[in-house]
Amino acid sequence: MTIIRAVPAGVGSYLPERIMTNDELSKTVDTTHDWIVERTGIHRRHIAADGEMTSDLALHAASQALDMAAMEIGEIDLIVVATATPDQTFPSTATRVQNRLGMHHGFAFDVQAVCSGFVYALSVATQFIETGKARGAIVIGSETFSRILDWSDRTTCVLFGDGAGAVVLKGEAGTGTTADRGVLSTELRSDGAHNASLYVDGGPSTTGLAGQLRMNGREVFKHAVRNLAEIGEAALATANLTSSDVQWVVPHQANARIIASTAQKIGVEMNRVIVTVQDHANTSAASIPLALDVAVRDGRIRQGDLLLLEAMGGGFTWGAAAVRW
Ligand code: ACO
Repeated sequence: MTIIRAVPAGVGSYLPERIMTNDELSKTVDTTHDWIVERTGIHRRHIAADGEMTSDLALHAASQALDMAAMEIGEIDLIVVATATPDQTFPSTATRVQNRLGMHHGFAFDVQAVCSGFVYALSVATQFIETGKARGAIVIGSETFSRILDWSDRTTCVLFGDGAGAVVLKGEAGTGTTADRGVLSTELRSDGAHNASLYVDGGPSTTGLAGQLRMNGREVFKHAVRNLAEIGEAALATANLTSSDVQWVVPHQANARIIASTAQKIGVEMNRVIVTVQDHANTSAASIPLALDVAVRDGRIRQGDLLLLEAMGGGFTWGAAAVRW
């Protein structure tokens, strides 16, 4: 049976120039490089320059991904930006990127699922491609979390950074088997009962201000490993696959301990897990495409490899995708 698959054609990423080390942070809050590395695996994060916006980061990543795909903007019908830190309350960051890419056809919108945003956006874009409503799509995760951090709170400010990543998807005929390239399955979940464990204490309809991130780290940690393992296995099962079929797990890069515990629970050795959290900290929706870009460009991920993407974030939201690269 011939079906349309959403096939990855290119990937790109961008990290702002300015690097903030753990040692630098230890001069402003009561923390140490060793504490941060031991609890999170994070060594440094990138911070957007004054005036550098989420759409700027997104544009860099999307342009790189389009270059790798060797596609013209005319072949793209859809742009989805996953972000919890949009340039403005509205218009969407996606329409700002659309304009700067010189795209004046098709449609563009933002998806808000915090750290799970990229998996949500990938799932949404895949539906449009599989139903023939879009020929090509750019799925972007872009964040400037530095703007919503309480820089005096050592329990949160050490964990996050700014960045962007993007994947270009192209509709291509597949056979409907797991041998096809493309997004083979996605699974999404959320449970708003956990809103209070990870949230921003502001917004247009509450305080009228952007607000700052608040988190109960232990509570997040407790749910993360269980949710991520379950959703990863669900995405594989939906595609009639198991963890032994997976060449690479590309997890949301929040914390090295969550990544390792989840991999162990799924039954995947760490030498098959892409870890980049040390270099950019938690960049929320940007972290999966950032890690993908690193591993594609350094040759670890090759065409035909089966990838399992998984993420969890505020809400709680969580999701996973099985993708044959
Ligand atoms: N430096 C030094 N000490 C610190 C710091 C810091 N930056 N932050 C907290 N501490 C202290 C605490 O105050 C506490 O001190 P106390 O015992 O005197 O009260 C002590 O360290 C232990 O604190 P815990 O919160 O129990 O530390 P824990 O081992 O749980 O690590 C962490 C904290 C890293 C936040 C962990 O809970 C975690 O990783 N949670 C997941 C959070 C996460 O990844 N969120 C991202 C968004 S959601 C997602 O992407 C999955």
